[in-house]
Amino acid sequence: MEVLNAIFTRRSIRKYTGDVISEDDLKLVLRAGFSAPSAHNYQPWHFVVVKDNATLEQIAAVHTYAKMLPQAGCGIIVCGDKEKQSITGFLVEDCSAAIQNMLLAAHGLGLGAVWCGLYPVTKLTKSISKLLDLPANITPIGMVVVGYSAEEKKELDKYDEAKIHIEKW
Ligand SMILES: Cc1cc2nc3c(=O)[nH]c(=O)nc-3n(C[C@H](O)[C@H](O)[C@H](O)COP(=O)(O)O)c2cc1C
Repeated sequence: MEVLNAIFTRRSIRKYTGDVISEDDLKLVLRAGFSAPSAHNYQPWHFVVVKDNATLEQIAAVHTYAKMLPQAGCGIIVCGDKEKQSITGFLVEDCSAAIQNMLLAAHGLGLGAVWCGLYPVTKLTKSISKLLDLPANITPIGMVVVGYSAEEKKELDKYDEAKIHIEKW
């Protein structure tokens, strides 16, 4: 898929067929995450891939807005390494860039995906860290839920002239 078309037509998908994505597609989505820009090129991310149904159910049980996860069949928890990037703002931005790359890659591959926020909701970061045995220096930033879409979503045009400021506010 051409890149601008992918950006313009990507939507959050919250209904899935139940089929789990292939290892080949998963690897491409992960490669897209690794290709993101990062401050100082520190690449402070780690990706925890969860397909185990019991774990998907446990995550969905603690995350009010990720109830679609078990039906999607795969969640990629994007984590930041505080020892690699000690400035929290940069850590979150780097991981967010990786998440957006993965959403676009999934869409380009004909898959459905949605970004489910974790950081800075302490209840979520604590419970996900415990569930996934994350080391103390690793913070879960967000989750990419990915699978085969079971819903059609139209392109949304969010372009807004009122939010564009030329030269000065
Ligand atoms: C930081 C962040 C956290 C989000 N968390 C959730 C979430 O927990 N559950 C969910 O279904 N969507 C979540 N979303 C997706 C937004 O709801 C979605 O992007 C927005 O409604 C716009 O829709 P679109 O992605 O289809 O353009 C999140 C998006 C961002 C950027």
